[in-house]
Parts: sequence; structure tokens; C-alpha cells
Amino acid sequence: MVIILGIESTAHTFGVAVVKNGKILSNCKKVFTTEKGGMIPMDVAKFHFNNKKEIYFEALNSANVNQEKIDAIAFSQGPGLAPCLLVGMKFAKELSKRLKIPLVPVNHCIAHLEIGSLTGAEDPVMLYASGANTQIIAYASGKYRIFGETLDLGVGNFIDTFARYAGIGFPAGPAIEKLATRGINYIELPYKVKGMDIALSGILTNLRQKLETKSPRDDSSKDDTAVPSAEPKYSLSDLAYSMQETVFAMLVETAERALAHTGKNQLLLGGGVACNSRLQEMCRIMCRERGAEFFCPPASLLVDNAGMIGFLGEIMFRKGIREKNPDIKPRQRTDEVEVDWK
Ligand code: ATP
Ligand code: FE2
Repeated sequence: MVIILGIESTAHTFGVAVVKNGKILSNCKKVFTTEKGGMIPMDVAKFHFNNKKEIYFEALNSANVNQEKIDAIAFSQGPGLAPCLLVGMKFAKELSKRLKIPLVPVNHCIAHLEIGSLTGAEDPVMLYASGANTQIIAYASGKYRIFGETLDLGVGNFIDTFARYAGIGFPAGPAIEKLATRGINYIELPYKVKGMDIALSGILTNLRQKLETKSPRDDSSKDDTAVPSAEPKYSLSDLAYSMQETVFAMLVETAERALAHTGKNQLLLGGGVACNSRLQEMCRIMCRERGAEFFCPPASLLVDNAGMIGFLGEIMFRKGIREKNPDIKPRQRTDEVEVDWK
């Protein structure tokens, strides 16, 4: 029997989970949010620092596990925001010292992928669509390789920034998804696929301009003193709808090409943006058309959570992987990680 404590703190979420023999017994978290505007890393780190103990005891209680029974502590080592990662690592080190148990440093992105095995995916191509990251990943020759990725923004950050221009707070994905269902008119946007990669910043600028465009004054008015119309030319719901249709098509196109290139026949969706039902639907249709299987974990395991960190931590721990004095790796790349556990 192995019991692992997982700790997640790469960005907005501070999470603690208890995982026992591959089963997530508890998966507790607190998420930093704002009414308006984005997140400032130091504020988020303070939020994590102030909440860590409460979440820790909540995770132990809800799993009904005594802390003395924990075998190892797995924590998110990177990639992520350095001040946030530090809070998680220091907490992991304190616990490791006090409970005299080893540390297992875990790559956050690979944890998003490995948790997909709970859905039945065995050797998938993963479309990893989260806030800071957007990558198409698959396992090949001892490593998780990146077959395509965003050249600038992660798709979640892109959606959150678009929403911020429209006055919507963080995280904005669910609000934008809701608005998109009310969209009727498709408004043409740039479509930016470059080989296997995508680019989002140009589309963001285009959306910002469209948000600020006012509809022309009514031509029937002959009065020169009339003020120009204050009405926006495009409705926010049409823009949200068009944004989703365009950007998700770019993701699905590159994911499909990765399936063709690797010869794999399973697609796994992961990361917070994977909660979006339209993205799920588009992936499902693409897979059906090419005879591939489609897998998508439940929302609680798609967004940042400590369950996936504990889950991968247990697999690594069972293979003998632990580190005496690990450090954070804010810029760690998926393909840098030696996959010694497969
Ligand atoms: P990572 O460190 O893996 O890049 P992250 O820390 O940014 O991840 P996640 O929890 O994986 O966080 O993803 C959060 C993102 O998911 C946010 O940008 C949020 O707006 C987006 N998101 C959540 N739900 C939806 C949705 N229904 N539609 C679109 N985007 C969503
Ligand atoms: Fe994440």
C-alpha cells in the first residue's frame, strides 16, 4: 500500500490531495480569482501561503488519512509562476522534514497527461489546452515530445485576456463559453496555423479592435451635430462564438495532424480549456471521422488540481524516483523531463 500527498501550486490554484494505490481519496483546493483584471504573481503566492494549512488538513480529513501514514510528498516543480511554485515547494519540504518522508518533484504538464490514464487512454496524442500552456504532446522514444504548440500565448490566457478587454474577471473561460452559445453570426477572424504550431496574439489584437469598433451612425440622420453611435458594431456573444470556432478549429487541425504523423489512434484532451463543451465536441467529431478514440477526464481533473500531482507522484515513487533537495523549475519544458517511470 502506498499513500502519497500531492501538492499543486503552479499558478492560481493551491491544491492538496491524498492518493492511495492509484485512487484519489481527496482532491482539495482553493483558487485565486478576481472580479476584474488578471492575476499578480505575488498576490497569488500570498493567497497560497495563507491557505496552505487549511487545504492540507481539509485533504487529510476528507481522505480520512492520518499524516503519519503518508509515504511521500509529490509537488509541482514546474513549469509555473516562481513565487507560487516556491510556496508549494517550501511547504512540501517542511512536511517532508517533519514527517521524515521523501520528496517526489513532478512536472505539472505531464501530470495533466498521465491522469488521462484513468479514463482508459493508453498511448494517446494529448491536446493540452490550459491557461499558460497549449501543446500537442505524445510519448515517443523515452520522452514526452511536443509535436506542436502555441508560439506565443496559451489558449486559456488568450481567452482570459480577450475577456479582460471586455470587462470580464479571471478566470473567464466558463463565462466566454456561455456567451458563445448565444452567438449567432460568425465574424471572420485570422486563422493562424504555422506548420504544427499556432499563434494567438494577432487574433487577440484583431478581437480587441473589433471590441472597440462602434457601429456607424444611422445614415438617415442628416443632422451633423448628432454624436456618433456608441453602440458596439459586434456583439460580445458573436465575438465569443467566432473566437471559439476559429481557435478551437486551429487546435483540432494540429491535433489531427499529430495523430496522422505518429500513427496513434487515441486523442486525450487535457488542461483547463478542455472543460469547454464546444472544444470537446469538435475533438469528438474529428476522432469519429478518422476512426480514433476520444478521451476526456472529468472537469475536476482537467483544471489544475493536486490529485493529478499525487497520481503521477505515486507512479514515480513506485519506480524509486525521489530527490533529496529539489528546486523549482519555473520554465521546465515537457520534453526536458526524463521519463524514467514508463
Ligand atoms: P497550466 O499551468 O497547465 O498552463 P493553468 O495554471 O493555466 O494551467 P488550468 O486550470 O489548467 O490552469 O486552466 C485554466 C484555464 O482554463 C483558464 O485560462 C480558464 O479561463 C480556462 N477555462 C476553464 N474553463 C473553461 C471553459 N469552459 N472554456 C474555456 N476555457 C476554460
Ligand atoms: Fe495546469
